[in-house]
Amino acid sequence: MSALLELRAVSRHFALPRRGFAPAPMLRAVQQVSLSVQAGEVVGLVGESGSGKSTLGRLALRLLTPSAGTVMFEGDDLATLSRSALRARRRAMQMVFQDPFASLNPRRSIGGAIAEVLALHGLPHGAAEVTVALRRVGLEAGDAVRRPRQFSGGQRQRIAIARALATQPRLLVADEPVSALDVSVQAGILALLQGLRAELGLAMLFISHDLRVVEAMADRIVVLYLGRVMESGPARAVFAQPRHPYTAALLAAAPGSHRPAMTLGGEIPSPADPPSGCVFRTRCPFALPACAAEVPLPRTVAPQHEMACIRDDLAL
Ligand SMILES: Nc1ncnc2c1ncn2[C@@H]1O[C@H](COP(=O)(O)OP(=O)(O)OP(=O)(O)O)[C@@H](O)[C@H]1O
Ligand SMILES: [Mg+2]
Repeated sequence: MSALLELRAVSRHFALPRRGFAPAPMLRAVQQVSLSVQAGEVVGLVGESGSGKSTLGRLALRLLTPSAGTVMFEGDDLATLSRSALRARRRAMQMVFQDPFASLNPRRSIGGAIAEVLALHGLPHGAAEVTVALRRVGLEAGDAVRRPRQFSGGQRQRIAIARALATQPRLLVADEPVSALDVSVQAGILALLQGLRAELGLAMLFISHDLRVVEAMADRIVVLYLGRVMESGPARAVFAQPRHPYTAALLAAAPGSHRPAMTLGGEIPSPADPPSGCVFRTRCPFALPACAAEVPLPRTVAPQHEMACIRDDLAL
């Protein structure tokens, strides 16, 4: 059976403003990323700011076109679908963003916002359908007439989730869905997403820079650094025994971690001028001269567990 979502060696570059007559420099936001999400599976995408998480989420839903590589959804290459076929597929893949206020029109009632999405996809969009969508996230039928500003931040994120799920998607890309919320409110939204996942068999690409949130949500995790995958594997295995030095450093830096501290050298390089070979080598305490020569290929270290580092002698 094919995966629900599969990215094969996907890259996305952005042209930066040119200076003088030189060719426009390229910012490499995502480079050669392969990953898959199975039906009903939650894959956590982690990495520091600027590592390419949001770009990857947008590529997965074809809100952005890849510069290279292929994005497959339910066995079809999204690049080959006609406009109408792509629109039909979009029903099955939705996105939730960090800031629900920015994605909700302040002048429109929330019932109107949900009806609008249903109508866009040619689905029944009366009061009954809107009520079903609202109840699914713990809101009431009577809330439909209210405007976004009459709700708290957590409730607004519930509304954004209700709207995303109204078309009954099979894949939800959630980009930092709780990062803008107070910790006390975060737990409620995460529990809601867990419940919806069980109830609807929903698969998620769950993007977060917060490892505790990812640990609570994900079956599998993918660790990005400077647009490249450093490690991917079952969440439990990666948290218990990270295999890539960058993953070990991320886990050690997480609040409340009991892992030995790992100091990384220097700053994150610019994605407009990434290091040769392994992009992590300029900060890696274990780098060897060979790390500058070639981009390390991902290799399997345990079942379903891959990492891209040439060293296999590290006890992390
Ligand atoms: N439209 C664009 N034009 C130019 N550069 C872009 C564009 N979108 C993203 N980038 C750059 O691509 C890189 C990856 O950005 P992205 O937003 O995907 O990172 P992120 O991991 O989501 O970061 P954050 O945690 O801050 O949300 C960054 O260097 C960013 O500046
Ligand atoms: Mg982002």
